[in-house]
Amino acid sequence: MLIKKPDLIRPSEITPQSAYLNRRQFMQGLAGTAAFAASASALALPVPQFDKGLPVYTGPDWLQQQLRAGVSNKALSTDEKIAPYQHAIRHNNFYEFGTGKGDPAKNAQDFITDPWSVQVSGEVNRPGTIGLEDLIKPHQLEERIVRLRCVEAWSMVLPFVGVSLATLLKQFEPTSKAKYVEFTTLNDPKQMPGQRSVFSSLDWPYVEALRMDEAMHPLAFMAVGMYGNALPPQNGAPLRLVLPWKYGFKWVKSIVGIRFTENMPATTWNKMAAQEYGFFANVNPAVSHPRWSQATERRLPSSLFRPNIIDTQPFNGYGDEVAHLYSDMDLKKWF
Ligand code: MTE
Repeated sequence: MLIKKPDLIRPSEITPQSAYLNRRQFMQGLAGTAAFAASASALALPVPQFDKGLPVYTGPDWLQQQLRAGVSNKALSTDEKIAPYQHAIRHNNFYEFGTGKGDPAKNAQDFITDPWSVQVSGEVNRPGTIGLEDLIKPHQLEERIVRLRCVEAWSMVLPFVGVSLATLLKQFEPTSKAKYVEFTTLNDPKQMPGQRSVFSSLDWPYVEALRMDEAMHPLAFMAVGMYGNALPPQNGAPLRLVLPWKYGFKWVKSIVGIRFTENMPATTWNKMAAQEYGFFANVNPAVSHPRWSQATERRLPSSLFRPNIIDTQPFNGYGDEVAHLYSDMDLKKWF
Protein backbone atom coordinates (compact mmCIF):
# COMPACT_ATOMS: atom_id res chain seq x y z
CA MET A 1 0.00 0.00 0.00
CA LEU A 2 1.22 3.47 -0.76
CA ILE A 3 2.35 5.57 2.15
CA LYS A 4 0.98 9.09 2.02
CA LYS A 5 1.48 12.13 4.18
CA PRO A 6 -1.36 12.77 6.63
CA ASP A 7 -4.25 14.39 4.83
CA LEU A 8 -4.81 18.04 5.42
CA ILE A 9 -8.50 18.34 6.10
CA ARG A 10 -9.82 21.84 6.10
CA PRO A 11 -12.17 22.74 9.00
CA SER A 12 -14.76 23.76 6.39
CA GLU A 13 -14.85 20.16 5.19
CA ILE A 14 -16.03 18.85 8.53
CA THR A 15 -19.80 18.38 8.69
CA PRO A 16 -21.03 20.13 11.82
CA GLN A 17 -23.90 17.80 12.68
CA SER A 18 -25.82 15.68 10.26
CA ALA A 19 -29.28 14.44 11.01
CA TYR A 20 -27.85 10.96 10.88
CA LEU A 21 -25.35 11.55 13.63
CA ASN A 22 -27.97 13.30 15.74
CA ARG A 23 -30.16 10.27 15.45
CA ARG A 24 -27.28 7.96 16.39
CA GLN A 25 -26.41 10.08 19.40
CA PHE A 26 -30.05 10.05 20.46
CA MET A 27 -30.20 6.28 20.16
CA GLN A 28 -26.93 5.87 22.04
CA GLY A 29 -28.26 8.13 24.75
CA LEU A 30 -31.17 5.76 25.11
CA ALA A 31 -28.91 2.75 25.11
CA GLY A 32 -26.58 4.09 27.80
CA THR A 33 -22.89 4.76 27.59
CA ALA A 34 -21.48 1.24 27.89
CA ALA A 35 -18.79 0.36 25.35
CA PHE A 36 -21.21 -1.94 23.61
CA ALA A 37 -24.70 -0.59 23.29
CA ALA A 38 -27.31 -3.33 23.30
CA SER A 39 -30.77 -3.13 21.87
CA ALA A 40 -32.44 -6.04 20.16
CA SER A 41 -35.44 -4.15 18.78
CA ALA A 42 -35.80 -3.29 15.11
CA LEU A 43 -35.70 0.45 14.41
CA ALA A 44 -37.01 2.08 11.27
CA LEU A 45 -34.13 4.08 9.83
CA PRO A 46 -35.11 7.63 8.93
CA VAL A 47 -33.98 8.83 5.51
CA PRO A 48 -30.61 10.33 6.39
CA GLN A 49 -30.07 13.99 5.60
CA PHE A 50 -26.56 15.14 4.97
CA ASP A 51 -25.22 18.59 4.39
CA LYS A 52 -26.10 20.09 1.03
CA GLY A 53 -23.71 19.15 -1.72
CA LEU A 54 -22.83 15.74 -0.34
CA PRO A 55 -23.91 12.83 -2.50
CA VAL A 56 -26.49 10.42 -1.10
CA TYR A 57 -26.57 6.82 -2.31
CA THR A 58 -30.01 5.27 -2.24
CA GLY A 59 -29.34 1.96 -4.03
CA PRO A 60 -32.12 -0.11 -5.60
CA ASP A 61 -35.76 0.31 -4.49
CA TRP A 62 -35.92 -3.03 -2.68
CA LEU A 63 -32.94 -2.01 -0.52
CA GLN A 64 -34.43 1.40 0.32
CA GLN A 65 -37.65 -0.34 1.36
CA GLN A 66 -35.75 -2.81 3.49
CA LEU A 67 -33.69 -0.07 5.14
CA ARG A 68 -36.79 1.93 6.01
CA ALA A 69 -38.69 -1.16 7.20
CA GLY A 70 -36.42 -1.62 10.20
CA VAL A 71 -32.86 -2.32 11.15
CA SER A 72 -31.93 -4.12 14.33
CA ASN A 73 -29.16 -2.81 16.51
CA LYS A 74 -27.46 -5.68 18.27
CA ALA A 75 -24.83 -5.79 20.97
CA LEU A 76 -21.84 -5.54 18.62
CA SER A 77 -21.60 -1.78 18.07
CA THR A 78 -19.15 0.64 19.62
CA ASP A 79 -20.38 3.95 21.02
CA GLU A 80 -17.28 5.84 19.84
CA LYS A 81 -17.78 8.94 17.71
CA ILE A 82 -18.76 8.08 14.15
CA ALA A 83 -16.60 9.64 11.42
CA PRO A 84 -18.31 12.52 9.62
CA TYR A 85 -19.95 11.21 6.45
CA GLN A 86 -17.81 13.22 4.06
CA HIS A 87 -14.63 11.63 5.40
CA ALA A 88 -16.02 8.14 4.99
CA ILE A 89 -16.93 8.75 1.35
CA ARG A 90 -13.84 10.72 0.34
CA HIS A 91 -10.99 8.94 2.06
CA ASN A 92 -10.97 5.49 0.53
CA ASN A 93 -8.82 2.58 -0.51
CA PHE A 94 -10.27 0.92 -3.59
CA TYR A 95 -7.35 0.32 -5.92
CA GLU A 96 -9.64 -0.71 -8.77
CA PHE A 97 -10.52 2.99 -8.96
CA GLY A 98 -7.05 4.42 -8.33
CA THR A 99 -4.44 4.47 -5.59
CA GLY A 100 -5.03 8.00 -4.25
CA LYS A 101 -7.35 8.36 -1.25
CA GLY A 102 -9.63 10.65 -3.29
CA ASP A 103 -9.54 8.57 -6.49
CA PRO A 104 -12.40 6.16 -5.70
CA ALA A 105 -14.80 9.03 -4.91
CA LYS A 106 -13.85 10.62 -8.22
CA ASN A 107 -13.70 7.54 -10.43
CA ALA A 108 -16.40 5.22 -9.07
CA GLN A 109 -19.48 7.41 -9.46
CA ASP A 110 -20.65 5.69 -12.68
CA PHE A 111 -19.91 2.21 -11.39
CA ILE A 112 -22.93 0.00 -12.16
CA THR A 113 -23.95 -1.93 -9.04
CA ASP A 114 -27.53 -2.87 -9.95
CA PRO A 115 -28.33 -5.52 -11.13
CA TRP A 116 -25.71 -7.51 -9.22
CA SER A 117 -25.21 -11.18 -8.58
CA VAL A 118 -22.80 -13.38 -6.66
CA GLN A 119 -21.41 -16.71 -7.80
CA VAL A 120 -21.15 -19.32 -5.05
CA SER A 121 -18.85 -22.26 -5.71
CA GLY A 122 -16.53 -24.88 -4.23
CA GLU A 123 -17.24 -27.05 -1.21
CA VAL A 124 -20.98 -26.37 -0.84
CA ASN A 125 -24.17 -28.35 -1.34
CA ARG A 126 -25.90 -25.37 -2.91
CA PRO A 127 -23.60 -23.74 -5.46
CA GLY A 128 -24.92 -21.34 -8.09
CA THR A 129 -25.46 -17.71 -8.97
CA ILE A 130 -27.70 -15.65 -6.72
CA GLY A 131 -29.02 -12.13 -7.30
CA LEU A 132 -28.28 -9.54 -4.60
CA GLU A 133 -31.94 -9.05 -3.74
CA ASP A 134 -32.46 -12.80 -3.24
CA LEU A 135 -29.31 -12.94 -1.15
CA ILE A 136 -30.18 -10.07 1.20
CA LYS A 137 -33.96 -9.67 1.30
CA PRO A 138 -34.80 -12.76 3.36
CA HIS A 139 -32.71 -11.42 6.25
CA GLN A 140 -33.31 -8.76 8.89
CA LEU A 141 -30.84 -5.93 8.32
CA GLU A 142 -28.67 -4.96 11.24
CA GLU A 143 -26.65 -1.84 11.98
CA ARG A 144 -23.07 -2.24 13.21
CA ILE A 145 -20.91 0.68 14.24
CA VAL A 146 -17.33 -0.56 14.07
CA ARG A 147 -13.71 0.53 13.99
CA LEU A 148 -11.96 0.19 10.63
CA ARG A 149 -8.18 0.01 11.15
CA CYS A 150 -6.13 0.21 7.95
CA VAL A 151 -2.66 -1.35 7.84
CA GLU A 152 -1.49 2.14 6.77
CA ALA A 153 -2.09 3.15 10.42
CA TRP A 154 -5.23 5.26 10.07
CA SER A 155 -8.66 4.35 11.42
CA MET A 156 -12.29 5.45 11.32
CA VAL A 157 -15.50 4.58 13.14
CA LEU A 158 -18.13 3.69 10.54
CA PRO A 159 -21.83 2.76 10.79
CA PHE A 160 -22.53 -0.15 8.44
CA VAL A 161 -25.82 -1.85 7.67
CA GLY A 162 -25.99 -5.47 6.56
CA VAL A 163 -26.27 -9.06 7.62
CA SER A 164 -24.07 -11.34 9.70
CA LEU A 165 -21.70 -13.24 7.41
CA ALA A 166 -22.51 -16.57 9.08
CA THR A 167 -26.21 -16.13 8.29
CA LEU A 168 -25.41 -15.53 4.63
CA LEU A 169 -22.91 -18.35 4.27
CA LYS A 170 -24.93 -21.04 6.07
CA GLN A 171 -27.69 -20.93 3.46
CA PHE A 172 -25.27 -22.37 0.87
CA GLU A 173 -24.62 -25.38 3.11
CA PRO A 174 -20.81 -25.60 3.15
CA THR A 175 -19.63 -29.23 3.22
CA SER A 176 -17.34 -30.67 5.90
CA LYS A 177 -14.44 -30.16 3.47
CA ALA A 178 -14.90 -26.37 3.51
CA LYS A 179 -12.04 -25.06 5.68
CA TYR A 180 -11.73 -21.60 4.10
CA VAL A 181 -13.92 -19.15 2.23
CA GLU A 182 -12.65 -16.82 -0.46
CA PHE A 183 -14.23 -13.54 -1.61
CA THR A 184 -13.60 -11.97 -5.01
CA THR A 185 -14.19 -8.42 -6.23
CA LEU A 186 -15.60 -7.71 -9.67
CA ASN A 187 -13.05 -7.85 -12.48
CA ASP A 188 -14.14 -5.26 -15.04
CA PRO A 189 -11.31 -3.15 -16.47
CA LYS A 190 -13.83 -1.20 -18.58
CA GLN A 191 -15.41 0.21 -15.43
CA MET A 192 -12.38 0.07 -13.17
CA PRO A 193 -9.50 2.26 -14.31
CA GLY A 194 -7.12 0.79 -11.72
CA GLN A 195 -7.46 -2.62 -13.39
CA ARG A 196 -6.48 -1.07 -16.74
CA SER A 197 -3.50 0.76 -15.35
CA VAL A 198 -0.10 -0.43 -16.54
CA PHE A 199 1.35 0.80 -13.23
CA SER A 200 -0.80 -1.54 -11.14
CA SER A 201 1.24 -3.99 -9.10
CA LEU A 202 -1.79 -5.96 -7.93
CA ASP A 203 -3.07 -9.12 -9.53
CA TRP A 204 -6.76 -8.69 -10.45
CA PRO A 205 -9.36 -9.56 -9.39
CA TYR A 206 -8.86 -8.57 -5.75
CA VAL A 207 -9.23 -11.68 -3.60
CA GLU A 208 -9.22 -12.17 0.17
CA ALA A 209 -10.16 -15.15 2.30
CA LEU A 210 -10.98 -16.29 5.83
CA ARG A 211 -10.73 -19.51 7.77
CA MET A 212 -14.26 -20.91 8.21
CA ASP A 213 -14.32 -20.33 11.98
CA GLU A 214 -13.42 -16.67 11.37
CA ALA A 215 -16.12 -16.31 8.73
CA MET A 216 -18.70 -17.85 11.08
CA HIS A 217 -17.77 -15.56 13.98
CA PRO A 218 -20.62 -13.19 14.99
CA LEU A 219 -18.41 -10.12 14.38
CA ALA A 220 -17.91 -11.01 10.68
CA PHE A 221 -20.41 -8.99 8.70
CA MET A 222 -21.52 -8.44 5.11
CA ALA A 223 -22.49 -4.81 4.52
CA VAL A 224 -24.95 -3.47 1.95
CA GLY A 225 -25.28 -0.02 3.50
CA MET A 226 -23.59 2.74 5.45
CA TYR A 227 -24.91 5.78 7.37
CA GLY A 228 -28.46 4.43 7.03
CA ASN A 229 -28.35 4.30 3.24
CA ALA A 230 -26.94 2.10 0.48
CA LEU A 231 -23.17 1.63 0.27
CA PRO A 232 -21.51 4.31 -1.86
CA PRO A 233 -19.61 2.84 -4.85
CA GLN A 234 -16.28 4.05 -3.44
CA ASN A 235 -17.00 2.14 -0.20
CA GLY A 236 -17.60 -1.15 -2.00
CA ALA A 237 -21.20 -1.11 -3.26
CA PRO A 238 -23.23 -3.15 -3.38
CA LEU A 239 -21.71 -5.78 -1.08
CA ARG A 240 -18.56 -5.75 1.07
CA LEU A 241 -17.00 -7.47 4.04
CA VAL A 242 -16.70 -5.83 7.46
CA LEU A 243 -14.16 -7.63 9.69
CA PRO A 244 -13.53 -5.24 12.60
CA TRP A 245 -10.64 -7.18 14.19
CA LYS A 246 -8.67 -7.41 10.93
CA TYR A 247 -6.78 -4.84 8.91
CA GLY A 248 -8.92 -3.10 6.31
CA PHE A 249 -7.31 -4.87 3.35
CA LYS A 250 -9.29 -8.01 4.28
CA TRP A 251 -12.57 -6.05 3.97
CA VAL A 252 -13.17 -6.99 0.31
CA LYS A 253 -15.37 -4.61 -1.67
CA SER A 254 -17.91 -5.14 -4.50
CA ILE A 255 -18.02 -8.92 -4.05
CA VAL A 256 -19.07 -11.13 -7.00
CA GLY A 257 -17.62 -14.47 -5.91
CA ILE A 258 -17.76 -16.61 -2.77
CA ARG A 259 -15.81 -19.88 -2.98
CA PHE A 260 -15.46 -22.48 -0.25
CA THR A 261 -12.15 -24.37 -0.27
CA GLU A 262 -10.31 -27.13 1.52
CA ASN A 263 -6.91 -25.39 1.24
CA MET A 264 -5.86 -21.88 2.17
CA PRO A 265 -6.55 -19.66 -0.88
CA ALA A 266 -3.92 -17.31 -2.30
CA THR A 267 -4.88 -13.73 -1.44
CA THR A 268 -4.10 -10.48 -3.26
CA TRP A 269 -1.85 -8.62 -0.80
CA ASN A 270 -0.17 -11.76 0.48
CA LYS A 271 0.75 -12.69 -3.11
CA MET A 272 2.08 -9.18 -3.67
CA ALA A 273 4.33 -9.13 -0.57
CA ALA A 274 3.99 -12.10 1.81
CA GLN A 275 6.51 -10.63 4.28
CA GLU A 276 4.36 -7.48 4.61
CA TYR A 277 0.77 -8.74 4.44
CA GLY A 278 -0.09 -11.96 6.24
CA PHE A 279 -3.08 -14.15 5.47
CA PHE A 280 -4.68 -13.54 8.88
CA ALA A 281 -4.05 -9.79 9.08
CA ASN A 282 -5.36 -9.48 12.64
CA VAL A 283 -4.75 -5.98 13.98
CA ASN A 284 -1.67 -6.36 16.17
CA PRO A 285 0.29 -3.44 17.67
CA ALA A 286 3.11 -5.87 18.58
CA VAL A 287 3.86 -6.86 15.00
CA SER A 288 5.11 -3.96 12.94
CA HIS A 289 4.80 -3.78 9.20
CA PRO A 290 8.35 -3.77 7.73
CA ARG A 291 7.89 -0.15 6.68
CA TRP A 292 5.93 1.31 9.58
CA SER A 293 4.95 0.63 13.18
CA GLN A 294 1.48 -0.65 14.04
CA ALA A 295 1.66 0.53 17.67
CA THR A 296 -0.47 3.63 17.08
CA GLU A 297 -3.00 4.88 14.57
CA ARG A 298 -4.34 8.17 13.27
CA ARG A 299 -8.08 8.28 14.03
CA LEU A 300 -9.86 10.21 11.29
CA PRO A 301 -10.80 12.97 11.05
CA SER A 302 -7.35 14.30 11.86
CA SER A 303 -5.30 17.24 10.73
CA LEU A 304 -1.73 18.46 10.87
CA PHE A 305 -2.50 20.43 14.04
CA ARG A 306 -4.76 17.76 15.58
CA PRO A 307 -3.24 14.50 14.40
CA ASN A 308 -5.48 12.50 16.75
CA ILE A 309 -3.00 9.68 17.28
CA ILE A 310 -4.23 6.87 19.55
CA ASP A 311 -2.80 3.54 20.69
CA THR A 312 -3.71 0.56 18.56
CA GLN A 313 -5.38 -2.28 20.47
CA PRO A 314 -4.73 -5.99 19.87
CA PHE A 315 -7.43 -7.30 17.53
CA ASN A 316 -8.48 -3.66 17.14
CA GLY A 317 -10.08 -3.77 20.59
CA TYR A 318 -12.18 -6.88 19.83
CA GLY A 319 -9.85 -9.31 21.66
CA ASP A 320 -12.50 -10.44 24.18
CA GLU A 321 -14.61 -11.62 21.27
CA VAL A 322 -12.03 -13.14 18.91
CA ALA A 323 -8.73 -13.93 20.68
CA HIS A 324 -9.83 -17.53 21.35
CA LEU A 325 -9.85 -18.19 17.59
CA TYR A 326 -6.05 -17.91 17.63
CA SER A 327 -5.18 -19.31 21.08
CA ASP A 328 -2.92 -22.05 19.68
CA MET A 329 -1.13 -19.81 17.16
CA ASP A 330 2.07 -17.78 17.30
CA LEU A 331 0.68 -14.45 16.10
CA LYS A 332 4.18 -13.14 15.29
CA LYS A 333 4.52 -15.94 12.76
CA TRP A 334 0.89 -16.01 11.60
CA PHE A 335 0.45 -12.26 11.25
N1 MTE B 1 -11.41 -4.05 -1.72
C1 MTE B 1 -11.04 -3.98 -3.01
N2 MTE B 1 -11.70 -4.70 -3.93
N3 MTE B 1 -10.00 -3.20 -3.43
C2 MTE B 1 -9.25 -2.47 -2.56
O1 MTE B 1 -8.31 -1.77 -2.98
N4 MTE B 1 -8.89 -1.86 -0.22
C3 MTE B 1 -8.98 -2.38 1.16
C4 MTE B 1 -10.42 -2.66 1.56
N5 MTE B 1 -11.14 -3.34 0.51
C5 MTE B 1 -9.60 -2.54 -1.18
C6 MTE B 1 -10.72 -3.31 -0.80
C7 MTE B 1 -8.34 -1.50 2.13
S1 MTE B 1 -6.64 -1.45 2.09
C8 MTE B 1 -9.05 -0.80 3.06
S2 MTE B 1 -8.27 0.04 4.32
C9 MTE B 1 -10.53 -0.75 3.03
O2 MTE B 1 -11.06 -1.43 1.89
C10 MTE B 1 -10.97 0.71 3.00
O3 MTE B 1 -12.37 0.80 3.03
P1 MTE B 1 -13.06 2.24 2.85
O4 MTE B 1 -12.55 2.84 1.59
O5 MTE B 1 -14.52 1.97 2.80
O6 MTE B 1 -12.67 3.05 4.05
